[in-house]
Amino acid sequence: MKALVLSGGAGTRLRPITHTSAKQLVPVANKAVLFYGLEAIAAAGITQVGVIVGDTAEEIQEAVGDGSKFGLEITYIPQERPLGLAHAVLIARDWLGDDDFVMYLGDNFIVGGITDLVEGFRDNRPAAQILLTHVPDPRSFGVAELDPDGQVIGLEEKPENPKSDLALVGVYLFTPAIHEAVRAIKPSWRGELEITHAIQHLIDVRADVRSTVIRGYWKDTGNVTDMLEVNRTVLEGLDRRLDGEVDEASETVGRVVLEEGARIVNSRVVGPVIIGAGTEVRDSYVGPFTSIAENCQVVDSELEFSIVLRDSSILGVARIESSLIGRHVEVTPAPSVPSAHRLVLGDHSKVQIHS
Ligand code: TTP
Repeated sequence: MKALVLSGGAGTRLRPITHTSAKQLVPVANKAVLFYGLEAIAAAGITQVGVIVGDTAEEIQEAVGDGSKFGLEITYIPQERPLGLAHAVLIARDWLGDDDFVMYLGDNFIVGGITDLVEGFRDNRPAAQILLTHVPDPRSFGVAELDPDGQVIGLEEKPENPKSDLALVGVYLFTPAIHEAVRAIKPSWRGELEITHAIQHLIDVRADVRSTVIRGYWKDTGNVTDMLEVNRTVLEGLDRRLDGEVDEASETVGRVVLEEGARIVNSRVVGPVIIGAGTEVRDSYVGPFTSIAENCQVVDSELEFSIVLRDSSILGVARIESSLIGRHVEVTPAPSVPSAHRLVLGDHSKVQIHS
């Protein structure tokens, strides 16, 4: 059994972060989202992994390498443009050969891994096995309709009137039967070869398409709100570990992870919080559910429920909440006269200013 991991795509919903970097590498608790998926694949006993890459190929390859640090053998498969999840299967045809495979969306986050699922699939080998989860508003997802026995009888992509509240999770298991299906379908109105259409094709030709409703936590980290939510969930599971320096004037409360080489000076840090190597927090408050990556500076500021990527500084700002801050970003107060906001924002940035 192989794994096909999708790490191309445009990432429009995470702009401007995705103008300059891959969304699958945005860190959750200071570790790339993609790495959680690769670890789950390795834990399921799969070693051969094909990684679909697009415009951010170089960055993904630099971060993941040959896969040996995960115990995986990785082959990169370039996709010229994000032409759809089924298109990714199409271009991976030769590499996949006649093996069964798990397709894993590189920006999806699943607590509890995929080991049981992969084992169940190996025993039964239906043409396709999809994962579903109950969601409050299914209209922005692929949605499945099941018969009373749990057999999948229909799939719809982002339906206006959903037939159930069961959304497709970004992990799919396939036998080689999927190859004929991805060749049989046509691009959708948005110009993509949809995997839901390929699976619907399997249903139409009466292939065995089964589903599992997962009980564990799942999120597509495609937008900032979900990203912060996943970060919160992962941080909640942290164990307190202070490998960096905390001076006597500081207080750290609860689940705080301070990496070696990080420093907390005259500050209050209330967990769950993770602070990366080389980062300094001085004269500041860092509140729950915050991840600060490596080599950042937080000075004379207040920060809570946020993700800060590496090499950024927040100096003299109270207070930042529910924010995703990219790499090499500077946030500072404006001079008091003239009373004006001074901004240098990239394309598609979003700023909320208290005025
Ligand atoms: P999506 O989130 O569906 O698409 P996207 O990355 O283009 O994002 P947005 O909607 O914000 O523009 O993609 C799910 C995962 O699959 C993600 O990790 C990117 C990857 N992907 C590919 O590798 N190739 C593709 O053709 C598509 C559509 C997605």
